Amino acid sequence: MIILHFVEDDWTVYTARGGGGLGAGSKKEVIVVTGSTSGIGFELSKRLSKDGFVVFGTYRSEKDVPMMLEAGIQPLQMEITNLSSIQAAERVVRMFLKENKDTARFLGVVSNAGVLNAGPFEKVEVDPLAYTLDVHLKGTVLLSKVFMDLIKSDKGGRIVVMGSLAALLLPPANAVCKLGSFRP
Ligand SMILES: NC(=O)c1ccc[n+]([C@@H]2O[C@H](COP(=O)([O-])OP(=O)(O)OC[C@H]3O[C@@H](n4cnc5c(N)ncnc54)[C@H](OP(=O)(O)O)[C@@H]3O)[C@@H](O)[C@H]2O)c1
Repeated sequence: MIILHFVEDDWTVYTARGGGGLGAGSKKEVIVVTGSTSGIGFELSKRLSKDGFVVFGTYRSEKDVPMMLEAGIQPLQMEITNLSSIQAAERVVRMFLKENKDTARFLGVVSNAGVLNAGPFEKVEVDPLAYTLDVHLKGTVLLSKVFMDLIKSDKGGRIVVMGSLAALLLPPANAVCKLGSFRP
């Protein structure tokens, strides 16, 4: 279980499992976290790396790479709305697992990348609305499909999807946020 706690402009991540990232046969466990350049994704990736997991965190801009490396995150370029980009990222992870097959196993993906589009439904333009759905819904589906072989390649693979309680509470001024927070 992972608990995220937001206090004074910063996230704290608590992981219930002791850490070490050592799975069956003492292999290092490899996780892909999307949207690792800021917020929850960055803190989660940093914490999992500290706990001993090999974390491939996704980024879009090269400017974020040094910060990720410093936090122990393996930078993995990915635009979540683009199938070819996800496939290219999967190949990088697949290659890593092949080269480290005796010492590493794939644990799963965390679909965390997201955008915030607050506002009443009737005021939000169609393009940002469609983009929000592309990132949250289509992105999660594509990510899961592309990484499915790796997820199933070793027992116990997982797809973790970052949702939001906001999806269940429906203040009218936040309609788009709700739409984007529903995930498969
Ligand atoms: N913050 C909250 O209070 C809260 C509450 C409930 C749920 N959530 C959910 O938790 C997740 C993270 O939220 P956050 O507040 O930590 O967000 P954040 O700080 O804005 O970070 C969003 C991350 O997603 C990445 N991203 C955005 N669009 C992308 C795209 N098209 N392709 C690839 N990566 C993309 C961003 O990359 P770039 O740096 O390249 O833009 C960034 O790394 C979201 O899914 C959000 O819906 C957040």
